Amino acid sequence: MTRCGAVIKKYPTFTVDGGFNVPAFKAELKNVAAEKGKAVVLLNFPNNPSGYTPTVEEGDAIVAAIQEVAEDGCNIVAITDDAYFGLFYEDSMTESLYGKLANLHPRILAIKLDGATKEEYVWGFRTGFITFADGNKTAKPKVITALEKKTMGIIRATISNCPHPGQTFVLDALSSDQYPAQKAEKFAVMKGRALKVKEILKDAKYADAWDYYPFNSGYFMCLKVKNVGAEALRVHLLDKYGVGAISIGKTDLRVAFSCIAEEDIKELFDLIYDAVKDLS
Ligand SMILES: Cc1ncc(COP(=O)(O)O)c(C=O)c1O
Repeated sequence: MTRCGAVIKKYPTFTVDGGFNVPAFKAELKNVAAEKGKAVVLLNFPNNPSGYTPTVEEGDAIVAAIQEVAEDGCNIVAITDDAYFGLFYEDSMTESLYGKLANLHPRILAIKLDGATKEEYVWGFRTGFITFADGNKTAKPKVITALEKKTMGIIRATISNCPHPGQTFVLDALSSDQYPAQKAEKFAVMKGRALKVKEILKDAKYADAWDYYPFNSGYFMCLKVKNVGAEALRVHLLDKYGVGAISIGKTDLRVAFSCIAEEDIKELFDLIYDAVKDLS
């Protein structure tokens, strides 16, 4: 954003009923289309920070909205950031929207981003994958070649290169027969933690301290805290209880359940609750 001078436009993520806010997304996309005639749409599911992945119907509605705006003449780059791909725990869609966006319309360029990152339970390897959908069948190879060259150029001009050790570890891991079983084992740990959070949050005692946003996937969930500022709460949690969380805006606190053992999750939310009470 800073480097390329992009202007970020946002919309409320959820409807009041707790679904993905497709109407708000569509309205904002139409505004940008009217203003600029072009847009880059960034879709990130499972989402950071909310931990939400849309249902199949919501996913279809997002794709339909993008298609409609493209048909009205807007050029759209639709990027799916699939950094948390595969970490689906409940009744969400379980595919990337990239598949539905690829080659959907000549004005839509679909780009898929994957990394040897959260979805592979590794961090800091700096190894990622960029996939471009090559437009409709008549797209000239020259266009896609130019895109590839420009991408290589911008990588070289910014980060220079991905480190070779990271690439080697990833390649060896992906080639190992033990890898699918190890990945399934880690997935079960994550799912166990996510479902435990849901179970704990059912406790009515928390109702005066927060509501929580829908979550069904990924590494995180967000509380919407009541009567205290999210940033003040974050600082207090860290100072008094040694608990680290991320504050977003005035009311939202992101909790990374991915890094807390299942048996410690209750204590974590009790500490957050105590911290809210200290401040309110
Ligand atoms: C949505 C999303 N995309 C991409 C990344 C980048 O992953 P990494 O830091 O491993 O490059 C992150 C990391 O937090 C993320 O949350």
